[in-house]
Amino acid sequence: MKKGCFITIEGGEGAGKSTIIERLVKQLSERGQAVVMTREPGGIAIAEQIRGIVLDRANTAMDARTEALLYAAARRQHLVEKVIPAIEQGKLVICDRFVDSSLAYQGHARQLGIEEVWDINRFAIQELMPDLTIYVDVSPQIGLARIARSDIREVNRLDLESLDFHNKVREGYHLLLAKFPDRMLRIDGERTLEQVYRDVLTAIDDQLAGI
Ligand code: TYD
Repeated sequence: MKKGCFITIEGGEGAGKSTIIERLVKQLSERGQAVVMTREPGGIAIAEQIRGIVLDRANTAMDARTEALLYAAARRQHLVEKVIPAIEQGKLVICDRFVDSSLAYQGHARQLGIEEVWDINRFAIQELMPDLTIYVDVSPQIGLARIARSDIREVNRLDLESLDFHNKVREGYHLLLAKFPDRMLRIDGERTLEQVYRDVLTAIDDQLAGI
């Protein structure tokens, strides 16, 4: 069934994912690569609406399980409408965040349990896991300071969590790296953007070359 390639990019707040992805779109398209860049939560109309609810700073009453279910629902719709069709057409799909975000944020940091959150996501994604997941690793102190300094994006509901929460997110990602060593690759994000970008591009090229 599967013809294309599915790569996800993960990281905590301020890891530099957005800038890296912007550069990837430009460079891969210039090369003539058939690439679809997308993001979670969102990427298509229904999922963008769910994104609006889940990231709204006014929704302080949101229960942790509700949050996990909303992310999983947005993921399902986005997969069916956008990711799967593109993969079936043989394209390279690069997605900014995917199931590992739920495992790290809701599973570990919100303490719902990685296995429990995995269960609802298995229902949502069935068997479709990424071929490669690149995790850009940055300490929350550095990541949150980058966001505070820049005007690249609005502060959302999850940015407002404590430093302790963001440290737990990072700890969650480290647990996932140990759990899925064949699928996940850690890239040190505490270097210059140029260095981080070069490593991300190399990882994608290696994946496409089947290395
Ligand atoms: P976004 O503005 O896209 O942030 P970023 O640039 O850091 O990706 O916001 C997405 C937020 O949603 C981010 O704080 C991580 C969180 N999130 C989860 O908690 N669980 C999930 O499953 C996903 C996809 C995102």
